[in-house]
Amino acid sequence: MASSLGVLFRVATWGESHGGGVGVVVDGCPPRLPISLEGIQFELDRRRPGQSSLVTQRKESDHVEILSGVQDGLALGTPIAMLVRNEDARSRDYDEMREKFRPSHADFAYDEKYGIRAWSGGGRASARETIGRVAAGAIAKQVLRCFGVEVLAWVDQIQHLQASVNSDTVSLAQIEATPVRCPDPAMAEQMIAHIEAIRKAGNSVGGVVSCVARGVPAGWGEPVFDKLEADLGKAVLSLPACKGFEVGSGFAGTLLTGLEHNDAYRADEQGGVFTPTNRSGGIQGGISNGMPILLRAAFKPTATVMHEQDTVTTKHENTTLQGRGRHDACVLPRAVPMVEAMVALVLADHALRQAALRSVNVDGIQC
Ligand SMILES: Cc1cc2nc3c(=O)[nH]c(=O)nc-3n(C[C@H](O)[C@H](O)[C@H](O)COP(=O)(O)O)c2cc1C
Repeated sequence: MASSLGVLFRVATWGESHGGGVGVVVDGCPPRLPISLEGIQFELDRRRPGQSSLVTQRKESDHVEILSGVQDGLALGTPIAMLVRNEDARSRDYDEMREKFRPSHADFAYDEKYGIRAWSGGGRASARETIGRVAAGAIAKQVLRCFGVEVLAWVDQIQHLQASVNSDTVSLAQIEATPVRCPDPAMAEQMIAHIEAIRKAGNSVGGVVSCVARGVPAGWGEPVFDKLEADLGKAVLSLPACKGFEVGSGFAGTLLTGLEHNDAYRADEQGGVFTPTNRSGGIQGGISNGMPILLRAAFKPTATVMHEQDTVTTKHENTTLQGRGRHDACVLPRAVPMVEAMVALVLADHALRQAALRSVNVDGIQC
């Protein structure tokens, strides 16, 4: 299935931007897990359009309904279906896009693939598709709480503006303190001013979201194709507009020698093992090593800009297209809960896989 992710904790999203609604089915949620509607709505509100002047002004309440799989606030262990209805779909903003492809958007590629396309609003390529991911991610976060794991993401960079953030101590309150979701207050102010200026000029900018998963024990992930960083990379890169992904030192690690780059092992006083540095980003050999998982995701400047640009028609004739409608001048602030959701979905899946792998007590069994 092209719209699903996960092995034991499995999700499938559905819905188009300007259709009746969007949603998700979550299969494999441990029975009796407390499911908080408020917790899911909290994450959706962080993703919602219209939450500040920095993001698209489409007016959506994004009110989530749980249709199945939950009773009296507890998971039944059966599929959990969640629905958010579309309320403010203005298809007229997209009339011209029936015949013309938006530069750097998904229109041309979708047309080539399917021979048909939900031209109003971008269909599945719209960021509205991520509602299902964020709702499912809220449940995945709840699964991870049982393992003592917390996932936090923040805006680390907007174009050339780079924040300074301590991933060991950063908190949700610090991230949510400003509409740009950058927990470096001085840099957040500069970022906000920059995005406002870019928006007023009808243009767009991109940047980097950083993410930490704290409390992940050693042993999650698989050794070959489902390496933890491979699954995290696939999940994060599947977000719209995400164009780069790195774990730990990432591309910057190529500038160091092995002597500079290696994470030395040390024994702690409780008999555990840690590494004073964490250039591996908490993953070695595709498996978590007990250090915080650190990753970064690059998001491109929003495709739709309020200017006339060259493009072609569906009949492959040269033309131009004037950007119009309500768009994010910068997707980064809203991408933060999306990155957290994708990371939580992958980690919850691997948590259950590792629990299953080690659930049989083989001690004392004779062949
Ligand atoms: C939070 C978020 C908001 C977005 N908002 C817009 C938008 O307002 N206008 C737009 O053209 N693209 C927007 N995008 C990006 C498009 O969905 C995306 O660029 C498009 O699907 C093409 O896919 P690609 O960029 O991954 O190749 C947004 C992406 C995210 C993550």
